Amino acid sequence: MVSIIQIVKLKVLLFVIALLSSSSAAVLVSLDTNENRQELEALLKWKDSLDKSSSAILSSWDLSPINATSPCDSLDLSNNSLYGTIPPHISNVSKLSYLDLSANNLNGFIPESIGNLANLNILYLNINQLSGSIPLTIGNLTKLTGLHLSLNHLSGHIPKEVGRMASLTDLKLPMNNLSGQLPAEISNLTSMKILLMGNNRLSGNLPDRICLGGLLERLSVHTNHFVGLIPKDLKNCSRLFRVRFEGNQLIGNVSEDFGIYPNLNYIDLSYNKFVGELSRNWGFSYYLTSFKISNNKIAGSIPPELAKATNLQILDLSSNQLVGRIPKELGGLALLFNLELNDNQLSGSVPTELGFLSDLAQLNLAENRLSGSVPAQLGQCSKLLYLNLSKNTLTEKIPFQIGSLHYLQNLDLSLNFLTGELPAELGFLTSLETLNLSHNQLSGYIPITFDEMSSLTTVDVSYNMLAGPLPSIRAFRNAPAKALEHNQGLCGNTNTIGTCSSMIRKSKAKYRKKVLISIIVPILGTLILLFIIAGILFTRSREARNMIEPREEEMANCFAIWGFDGKLMHESLIQATEDFNSKYCIGRGGSGSVYIAKLPTGQVFAVKKLHELDDDEVANMKSFSNEINALTEVKHRNIVKLYGFCSHAKYSFLVYEYLEGGSLAKLLKNEERARDLDWNKRIQVVKGVANALTYMHHECFPPVIHRDISSNNILLDSEYEARVSDFGTARILNPDSSKLTSFAGTFGYSAPELAYRMEANEKCDVYSFGVLTLELIMGKHPEDLLLSLLLPTSITIHRIPLKNLLDNRLPFPVDQVAEEVVFMVKLAFSCLQTSPQSRPTMQQVSQKLSAQKPHLLDPLDIIKLENVL
Ligand SMILES: *[C@@H]1O[C@H](CO)[C@@H](O)[C@H](O)[C@H]1NC(C)=O
Ligand SMILES: *[C@@H]1O[C@H](CO)[C@@H](O)[C@H](O)[C@H]1NC(C)=O
Ligand SMILES: *[C@@H]1O[C@H](CO)[C@@H](O)[C@H](O)[C@H]1NC(C)=O
Ligand SMILES: *[C@@H]1O[C@H](CO)[C@@H](O)[C@H](O)[C@H]1NC(C)=O
Ligand SMILES: *[C@@H]1O[C@H](CO)[C@@H](O)[C@H](O)[C@H]1NC(C)=O
Ligand SMILES: *[C@@H]1O[C@H](CO)[C@@H](O)[C@H](O)[C@H]1NC(C)=O
Ligand SMILES: *[C@@H]1O[C@H](CO)[C@@H](O)[C@H](O)[C@H]1NC(C)=O
Ligand SMILES: *[C@@H]1O[C@H](CO)[C@@H](O)[C@H](O)[C@H]1NC(C)=O
Ligand SMILES: *[C@@H]1O[C@H](CO)[C@@H](O)[C@H](O)[C@H]1NC(C)=O
Ligand SMILES: *[C@@H]1O[C@H](CO)[C@@H](O)[C@H](O)[C@H]1NC(C)=O
Repeated sequence: MVSIIQIVKLKVLLFVIALLSSSSAAVLVSLDTNENRQELEALLKWKDSLDKSSSAILSSWDLSPINATSPCDSLDLSNNSLYGTIPPHISNVSKLSYLDLSANNLNGFIPESIGNLANLNILYLNINQLSGSIPLTIGNLTKLTGLHLSLNHLSGHIPKEVGRMASLTDLKLPMNNLSGQLPAEISNLTSMKILLMGNNRLSGNLPDRICLGGLLERLSVHTNHFVGLIPKDLKNCSRLFRVRFEGNQLIGNVSEDFGIYPNLNYIDLSYNKFVGELSRNWGFSYYLTSFKISNNKIAGSIPPELAKATNLQILDLSSNQLVGRIPKELGGLALLFNLELNDNQLSGSVPTELGFLSDLAQLNLAENRLSGSVPAQLGQCSKLLYLNLSKNTLTEKIPFQIGSLHYLQNLDLSLNFLTGELPAELGFLTSLETLNLSHNQLSGYIPITFDEMSSLTTVDVSYNMLAGPLPSIRAFRNAPAKALEHNQGLCGNTNTIGTCSSMIRKSKAKYRKKVLISIIVPILGTLILLFIIAGILFTRSREARNMIEPREEEMANCFAIWGFDGKLMHESLIQATEDFNSKYCIGRGGSGSVYIAKLPTGQVFAVKKLHELDDDEVANMKSFSNEINALTEVKHRNIVKLYGFCSHAKYSFLVYEYLEGGSLAKLLKNEERARDLDWNKRIQVVKGVANALTYMHHECFPPVIHRDISSNNILLDSEYEARVSDFGTARILNPDSSKLTSFAGTFGYSAPELAYRMEANEKCDVYSFGVLTLELIMGKHPEDLLLSLLLPTSITIHRIPLKNLLDNRLPFPVDQVAEEVVFMVKLAFSCLQTSPQSRPTMQQVSQKLSAQKPHLLDPLDIIKLENVL
């Protein structure tokens, strides 16, 4: 056997080995003899007797076409784990008409002898690791109708011999490394329906004619280096269904080069050098769902007739030279979820009809010459996630209706001429992460409601006429000077601009009262009482604080628990940390910084100082008292101990047991320490965290949800035993508190439903636990993996070998450790399911972790993600 395909389950695949090795090739040719018939039948029987789980791996073992009348004309070994090279002797099976080796791990060249399989109709070698060039002999396969070579590493030219495969209807070459010009002979393929070659390095011109037979339905040449004109006959190619030209340097006049395509579903012409105007003919493509032509040099106006394509979901005309108004007819595209008209020269007002687009998720009209006001109707686009109206000449006030866009994550109104005060309702945008209001003429105070925008991470209000205290949320507190500069007296950001004088604080209080009475009340009838009470409390505490300000230092208010003398402790801790000198800082988190305090008595504590409370730190006070409440009731060996807490006019802090191992996040970033944390220790960490969460969810009453499990919040003791810390965002789960008004978790660990709908329940912790487990296995946060999991049809991730995920700083796990690791990956993925209901409970997770792990059916180094998903 010169080269042989090695197979996962040798025993199962004896047949294949026989088939593909030279010595037994004769067997195949004479398979219709009785003896071999029996052999085959036996094999099939045996296959049926395999248990369900292993036959899932062999799902493609469809040997049914092999029957007495047509021995072995069909071989489908797709979706297995075959590796090695394709043996040249494959050509001996000359009767073969169907050969599917797709989705395996085959490498090496495509053998030239493949050209001898003269009866072949179908040849699928896609999704492998094949390299080298496409053999010229492929042209001998004149009966071929389908040739799939996509997703390999094939290089070199597409041979002109493909022109001989006159029956070819389906040629797929995408995602290889093919280069050179496209042979003119491709025009010979007049039966062609599907011609795909995107994502290669092909160059030169496209052939003059590519749709000779008029049957072409799918054409894709995207992401190559093609230049010149698009094929002339495309204009008449009326069956086109899906067309991708994006990412080349094609030229041409779109007014002339395209025709009418009644079946068209998808077309992307972006990132080329097309000129001309948009034809009203596109409106006749009734089934068009996606029309993209961004980053070209398209001029003229947007034809209102485009709105006749009522199935449009994505319309991207951005970065062109379009002029004129935005047609109000676009408001009739009821399915539209992405509308990008930015970076053109569109003028006139933003049509109010856009408010009818109830599915719209992204609206980008930035960098145009739009004037008039921001239409209040946009507040009806209730699914909007992204709204960019930056760089226009919009005037008047920001309509308060924008505040009803509950899912909005990005709002950019910068570089306009917006005036007036900020509507208090903007503060209701609790999903908002980026807010840019810079370079406008906005005035007045920033409304008190902005304190509730707890998802906000980036804010820019520079170059306006705003005044008064900044909202007491992270985004404003941590904002750089240039995000706040050029206003009329903003205060309260200690990093950059000054703290507020008591005068301003009082006027803020007054202003807040005014806000309460004149704005909030009419809108939020039922919330009025709460707000007034809150308002009174704020005012009182502030007045009280203003009175005592000169003697702040003495006003420490310590509560001791577990036998500590609070006042003494306060003083010793201040001394031990030299008044929270940064040299004692050992960590920084969302709600505060952690210091190490070594008392003269020899005791060592971790002191978490919450950010300064010089203004109304509502958010922090909330997380502070939560942390205390949750922690005093929670006692577990895998949960950090809380010894006491102090509140002080200037700061508040919590006193924890000190854990020398530090946080898991820090440890994983340190090469040496990460190596110390070997597989067994990592498994123990996972189990520890699982136990802590099981305790919180199932043994505390009412259950405690952590809500912010991340590697920053998992501490380790000197033995690497895990302790869950930071209950800053934990809530005691009451039946009526599952809906939360603000987001307080850590991005990258939060369950999708938490970021989207604010439904907090135990399953959010289960999700974060899944992320954490993967992080331990990979040695780093699994961001990209999580992203690809969200994509519905992510074949590529399924094919990633599991071994690629493993932290390569550790030795490759073997034996039992390998079993545990594979099991943990499986468990992690079950925790990451999009639907919270499908995730296991922490109790189930703990039980599974302590149970005997199943033996591995396959060696770890050939397991793929799909086997554990
Ligand atoms: C192989 O897997 C792909 C993707 O999961 C699937 O579409 C295809 O039908 C499978 N082929 C066989 C023969 O099972
Ligand atoms: C045998 O194979 C041929 C061609 O593949 C097919 O038409 C026929 O139905 C098959 N017969 C049986 C009994 O499966
Ligand atoms: C199989 O094909 C190879 C060449 O591809 C040839 O050398 C060999 O003799 C063939 N074997 C049989 C049994 O036909
Ligand atoms: C197959 O193709 C090659 C190269 O195109 C050619 O030299 C050879 O004669 C062909 N073989 C047969 C059997 O047609
Ligand atoms: C293309 O087709 C023409 C006419 O059918 C034929 O003469 C020519 O040989 C073909 N080219 C190739 C490369 O097969
Ligand atoms: C693609 O092919 C070129 C040679 O044509 C080679 O230099 C390059 O490394 C290949 N790239 C990849 C990603 O295989
Ligand atoms: C398109 O079809 C029309 C009529 O069928 C014909 O006159 C014209 O030449 C064709 N254009 C191209 C570029 O093939
Ligand atoms: C594109 O074609 C149209 C129609 O033939 C013509 O009026 C226009 O001038 C052309 N545009 C350019 C930039 O060539
Ligand atoms: C909004 O559009 C402008 C102009 O194209 C761009 O610079 C800015 O980054 C966009 N804002 C956001 C939040 O994406
Ligand atoms: C806000 O917008 C302005 C103008 O478009 C831009 O210069 C600035 O960088 C943006 N700020 C942030 C934080 O992105």
